[in-house]
Amino acid sequence: MRGRGLFFILIVPVLQVMAQKFEGLALTPPMGWNSWNTFETRIDEVLIKEMAEALIESGMQAAGYRYIVIDDGWESMERDSLGNLVPDPERFPGGMKALGDFLHEKGFKFGIHNCAGSTTCSGYPGGRGHEFQDARIYASWGVDYLKYDWCDHGTADAKETYKTMRDALYAAGRPVVFSLCEWGNNKPWEWGREVGHLWRTTGDVTDCYDCQEVYSMGWKYILASQVGLEKYAGPDGWNDPDMLEVGNPGLSLAESRAMFSLWSILAAPLMAGNDVRSMTDDIKTILTNKEVIAVDQDLLGKQGVQFMLQRGKEIWVKELSDGAWAVCFFNTGDDDLNLRINWSHVWILKGDYHIRDLWQKKDIGTTRKHFSATIPSHDVIMLKMIPLR
Ligand code: GLA
Repeated sequence: MRGRGLFFILIVPVLQVMAQKFEGLALTPPMGWNSWNTFETRIDEVLIKEMAEALIESGMQAAGYRYIVIDDGWESMERDSLGNLVPDPERFPGGMKALGDFLHEKGFKFGIHNCAGSTTCSGYPGGRGHEFQDARIYASWGVDYLKYDWCDHGTADAKETYKTMRDALYAAGRPVVFSLCEWGNNKPWEWGREVGHLWRTTGDVTDCYDCQEVYSMGWKYILASQVGLEKYAGPDGWNDPDMLEVGNPGLSLAESRAMFSLWSILAAPLMAGNDVRSMTDDIKTILTNKEVIAVDQDLLGKQGVQFMLQRGKEIWVKELSDGAWAVCFFNTGDDDLNLRINWSHVWILKGDYHIRDLWQKKDIGTTRKHFSATIPSHDVIMLKMIPLR
């Protein structure tokens, strides 16, 4: 009996301390670049290094994109004889430690992908049954961010499975942002905060505005399905409506600008998914708009809400610190939208505000006057409303 008592006094508190995520690693939504949306499994260390250089040269790193995440396709098809994960020797001949060191020297954080099931969605070794061993190897490589997928999970319970990896990461001792990529199947917004720092809310985004495929969809559908999830997001735990398609060929410039604006209103993680080496100046202007990024990264940490939904028109708003609001008018129709706003009808606003247009980067007056503008199809106007005191 005495032995049992000692167990509860000494061991149980230790186990409880171990069972946690690394707190405070994502007080604002993580920002970075991920290889999947453009390159899928066609990745190698040369590409990753070139992308790091391009992120620096383009000003994206300075704008806040810190995590470079190597998605599915970096592994060998088999673990080694000790059960360790091994990078593909032809595509990553320098190994992951050296690549991590390179990224760290360049001022980035190093992210990697694996899967909670037995194999990844592309058929590489998954983490199931190897969680503690894998977490130790990630720590030895200097990994700072783990995106953990949900293919081949069999009958596993989602929350318990992700908790096992959380505990493994914690036990390995290196702080790691834990990105749950469970596609929203088991309502991860209800339990994700204690397990990780962000959780996917849907299946995969693809490079289009509103197409629908078997396993993926255009960002317009993903946006619609975020309504109601806002209460679960906040500092250190974010809804993740998937990575950006900004700059990818299936979106018009307006659709790229709109996606970036609305993802910022959603306080979404901003993971660029384009080929940064060859992006146009227009796309660079979108991805590095510091005033829009500041909406996403606002320290109040509130996810924005859909304020109005009408045929052809949506209004999204996000509360910001210091009593300010971001307001995004989104033309979902096929033709130009002529907008006329009487600010006194926008009930969230109390008193008068100074208005800043975040894409024109200019001050455009106050709420004492009506606002009118024309928005092209699938484009947005994004404003910051600052209280006049
Ligand atoms: C899933 C994820 C994607 C990507 C692929 C890789 O589909 O949701 O984001 O990581 O796996 O195979």
